[in-house]
Amino acid sequence: MAEWSAVEAERLLREWTQGESLVKHGLSVARSTEGYGQREAARLGLEGAEAERFAEMYRCAGLLHDMDYERHPSVEEHPFVGVAYLRENGWPEEILQAILAHADYSGVVPETHLQRALFACDELSGFLTACALVKPTKSIADVEVAGVKKKMKDKAFARAVKREDMTRGAELLAIPIEEHIGNCLVALQAHAAELGLAGTSAD
Ligand SMILES: [Fe+2]
Repeated sequence: MAEWSAVEAERLLREWTQGESLVKHGLSVARSTEGYGQREAARLGLEGAEAERFAEMYRCAGLLHDMDYERHPSVEEHPFVGVAYLRENGWPEEILQAILAHADYSGVVPETHLQRALFACDELSGFLTACALVKPTKSIADVEVAGVKKKMKDKAFARAVKREDMTRGAELLAIPIEEHIGNCLVALQAHAAELGLAGTSAD
């Protein structure tokens, strides 16, 4: 690999993954995590190309975190097989450590801001997608923070999504859950078409 990039990360995700919903999951986690990268870049005073490159690293972590999941879903292999492949191909260690830390059984605890952001965006992005798909319009633009909070309490809704991981994510980022939901919503809404969440009435 000449130089790491989100283009290359997305290419790898698609190469390793046949299932469209897992591809979409990677794309949506990438956009939410990228949003936190942009915020952190601003906090650090980065500007221009430097800020963009910083946020791109976050987006790559999102794109690649479940790259090996379809081929290697067991806890013995996921995400270790993917990380080994990426390491051999020269991907930055910050991205690899974030991918490891999103799996709570990996032994890597989310500590850096990137690790925390990826962990926090993983379950929530899937949950927000589920919230959009039950709207009559199937549009992420129609999802609101209050509605998401209500659905979090509804145990029958999207039961595979772990609520405690969503609240723990907000705790890791040291922000209220409402703010975390709002941040991820804005990120997904900005990329609705890419994520297939622009709804039926979108032009
Ligand atoms: Fe994931």
